[in-house]
Amino acid sequence: MCGITGYVGLRSAAPLLIAGLEKLEYRGYDSSGIGVLPADHSKIEIAKTPGKIKVLKDLLAANPLPQANLGISHSRWATHGAPTKSNAHPHFDGSQKILVVHNGIIENYEELKVRLQQKGHKFLSQTDTEVVPHLIEEYYRGDFLAAVQKALKELKGSFALGILCSDYPDTLIAARLGSPLIVGIGKNENFIASDVPAILDQTKKVVYLKDGELAVLKKDSVAVYDLAGKKVPLKVDTVKFSVESVQKQGFAHFMLKEIHEQPDVVGHMLKSRVCGDNVVLDGLSLSDRQLKKTLRIFIVACGTAYHAGLLGKYLIEKFAHIPVGVEAASEFRYREQLVDKNTLVIAISQSGETADTLAAVKECRNKGAKVLAVCNVVGSSLTRESDGVLYTHAGPEIGVASTKAYTAQLTMLYLLALKLGDVTGILSKGEQKSFISELKRIPEHFREILKSKALIAKIAKPYAHVGCFLFLGRNINYPSALEGALKLKEISYIPAEGYAAGEMKHGPIALIDEYRAVVCIAPQSEIYEKMISNMQEIRARKGKIIAIATEGDEGIVAHATNVIYIPKTHELLTPLLAALPLQLLAYYVAVQLKCDVDQPRNLAKSVTVE
Ligand code: AGP
Repeated sequence: MCGITGYVGLRSAAPLLIAGLEKLEYRGYDSSGIGVLPADHSKIEIAKTPGKIKVLKDLLAANPLPQANLGISHSRWATHGAPTKSNAHPHFDGSQKILVVHNGIIENYEELKVRLQQKGHKFLSQTDTEVVPHLIEEYYRGDFLAAVQKALKELKGSFALGILCSDYPDTLIAARLGSPLIVGIGKNENFIASDVPAILDQTKKVVYLKDGELAVLKKDSVAVYDLAGKKVPLKVDTVKFSVESVQKQGFAHFMLKEIHEQPDVVGHMLKSRVCGDNVVLDGLSLSDRQLKKTLRIFIVACGTAYHAGLLGKYLIEKFAHIPVGVEAASEFRYREQLVDKNTLVIAISQSGETADTLAAVKECRNKGAKVLAVCNVVGSSLTRESDGVLYTHAGPEIGVASTKAYTAQLTMLYLLALKLGDVTGILSKGEQKSFISELKRIPEHFREILKSKALIAKIAKPYAHVGCFLFLGRNINYPSALEGALKLKEISYIPAEGYAAGEMKHGPIALIDEYRAVVCIAPQSEIYEKMISNMQEIRARKGKIIAIATEGDEGIVAHATNVIYIPKTHELLTPLLAALPLQLLAYYVAVQLKCDVDQPRNLAKSVTVE
């Protein structure tokens, strides 16, 4: 996904803009660029190139930009047009007075481009973005803000924009519709950025622009307007997490750091949301009476969040006997959604900016459904589209592969299922009490598992060259199998498939031979013996098995090549514990293969376009 930074102030803009972009690298990109308006207010100067930001820095070292206190920069994840220099942002208008960086998709760019070409505009790129500066140029008669407002009214789709005009050497304009953009408030300087980490070392005072808002920044002022041009009161938030929380803190990768944060993340969630033996879900903003009237729940999400939703189904149906549908948002949004005012839609998203999840939520709201978001990013688009928000407060997750956000989502779903079980009366107070006491032990169990990371690293090593993996789980650990496979494939690029173990004989068993590995999630449970049978069938075909098993289970050793133990816990809590060995296994295999663990190829941290 693209990254945007912008600066207006008293300091040199270029170093700040590049440093900000570097902190957005986790979002995934394939080209970058920068544009500044020099202090002598002559003309805008730009530099842009395919490749990582280091390539841009080398370009700037060889051809430095002139000193400037105003500028914008961009890292692009290609959607329209290959990652080439001409397609990299920023983009000029024809007069080279207007400069734009953009994140999102201008869905009506073709018709705009044709209309502008008919008026004589020449385009240099294949991008949708380039229509924006030309459209502003079309309306520009000396009033920068007015021209931008007129142009924005014609754009359809999603955008976060940073805009300069060489006639306005003290002004930076920003606008958002559908793609995140924040304003950072400094002392005699102001910033824009796609996400907080980009400016966190400069200021903690931020304004989360809302959809349809436009900001005019000068070094000593920020004004926000709606698209109708009406001034909007400035709501300044103070970012709670610190700069160092965004750094790696001595871990080799953000992903490993974030795996290690899970005991604290879940611990904080439990402390803040369990009072005695009662679950307290502030932000739910649905009364017990409204919850009781819920006849049906739909969970929509993507990727890892979808896997969390699958577990949510098991838990809510078990604890509250409410039927739950779970579907990938990209599928759900295009089929007949049978939702109405008696449906509760739970939208799970770490970033709160995933295009398919947002679109699915909008469809459901149009049909009268109540929407509850489970989200990690304060002020994200999803949170503004929802009736209630359960923030996971897992802190910034920089690694593209989701880890702490996943276990935080699972924890929130356990808490929500307990709440629904209480409201519906299906769960007795005694059952709630005993489950909650087990849930409170999860952070210590996580710490136990993390102590065995060296063993997991040792087990992982020989598996780095296996042709493909199968992950098998049953019942509540079927989602664990899907998530384990996703973790491995997305950071090691080894083909990996998650499967319901009971389905093995219906096809996947054909894969089994000495060149494949099978991860079997087989904690003590009602279906443990079934998993052992699966493992025997795999062994009979020379398949290598890594078993995730309950501490003390010596018998499983005979059925597996390697065993990774998790502490004994309530059967329904095993997916939470199994997540950590699966994350660590994927991590160490990827490290063994020298993969780019934090920024895997082709992936973005938040998929804000379809
Ligand atoms: C998981 O490791 C990936 N990062 C990806 O599948 C992710 O879970 C998915 O894109 C959904 O993102 P969201 O939670 O921000 O909506």
